[in-house]
Amino acid sequence: MPIRPDRLLADMRALAAIGQHMTGVNRPAFSDADIAAREWLRNKMMNAGLAAEIDCYGNVYGRAINADRTVVIGSHSDTVPFGGWLDGAMGVIYGLEIARCITESGSQSCGIDVISFQDEEGTYLPFLGSRAFCGDNLTAEIETAKSKDGQTLKDAMSKAALPGNAAVRLDPRRHAAYFEAHIEQGPRLESSGRKIGVVTAIVGIKSFRLLFRGQANHAGTTPMDMRHDAGGAAMCLGNLLNQRMPAIGGPQTVWNVGNMRFEPGAINVVPVLAEVFLQVRDISPAVLAEAEHLVRALAAICAESFKVDVEVECLHDTEPAAMTPALAKLIEKAAAELGAPSASMPSGAGHDAMIVVRHIPSAMLFVPSIGGRSHHVSEDTSDVDIVLGAQVLLRAIELFMANGAR
Ligand code: GLV
Ligand code: MN
Ligand code: MN
Repeated sequence: MPIRPDRLLADMRALAAIGQHMTGVNRPAFSDADIAAREWLRNKMMNAGLAAEIDCYGNVYGRAINADRTVVIGSHSDTVPFGGWLDGAMGVIYGLEIARCITESGSQSCGIDVISFQDEEGTYLPFLGSRAFCGDNLTAEIETAKSKDGQTLKDAMSKAALPGNAAVRLDPRRHAAYFEAHIEQGPRLESSGRKIGVVTAIVGIKSFRLLFRGQANHAGTTPMDMRHDAGGAAMCLGNLLNQRMPAIGGPQTVWNVGNMRFEPGAINVVPVLAEVFLQVRDISPAVLAEAEHLVRALAAICAESFKVDVEVECLHDTEPAAMTPALAKLIEKAAAELGAPSASMPSGAGHDAMIVVRHIPSAMLFVPSIGGRSHHVSEDTSDVDIVLGAQVLLRAIELFMANGAR
């Protein structure tokens, strides 16, 4: 069954125009552009013959109407600030296109439900949509979640007029499996000349906020050994992390000090406060546990040597997740049938599939990233590779249905 490349690409470009920023997209969760994109998706899903709704969390869900057993295909349509046009959106439009193809073919074996999860990127609460879909109790987290600029999630949800809507829930009796396609967001496929990545596992992510508190003072008159320098402690932590982290992890362990903020933030004042946001990622829960231990120990060492106090808060802790091997094999087989060279690989990025796989069999397929770029407006994949990815995913789902999607 062929997908329709023109229709697929036209829909992807139309979605990218909502919140377009240069060659990318600025569509953080619950922004006006994000909500407009979700309305657009709901209409597209309805036009594809699905019963479509936006739920109270912002998930857009298109339900195959004449099916009681379905495959869910999707991803997310929110973006990081000033992000790329494919991260998330491509997987959702693949779902839409595959749902149309299966409906047009008249196949009775299994329906396709399509979903765009909300806030995968964590503008307010990472994986809000997929966690809510999977039935996590988020009441307490929703009560306290805020964006970086202090907006509360509750206000964002109210502003989007969503709280009155019903929640969409995963139903293992209906939903036989979840498939998510995504841009690789790294250089491996391109550099190896492979066209399809078959995801074996998704890294766990621990995110921390550290707050060093010292004493503001004159930067010219206060001797170095009499300072309580919160900024010095924060920079010391960044340096020590870079020195010590390699010893506890493997070659795939990654960490990132993504933001550091000093108060009062003046060149001639010793910082009274330094706020640091950092993340560690790995496939191994043991490495992640050791990494957390290291972050806390180094924070204490730096605080002591700069004579300041420190608080370490673990903001989010998402466990690593293995994808379902039997479904990964179907993607591999589909790629082979279509002559697309594939490679098995772990994902260093987080994805909604890591939440959904806790409940139903789930698989992910990657397409190559040009120049390995992502989370930036330069993110791109060639049209040929986008179309091939969709065709491989459709074939994998056909194989799944032929095996009895039961
Ligand atoms: C999600 O895009 C992540 O940060 O991995
Ligand atoms: Mn992303
Ligand atoms: Mn993504």
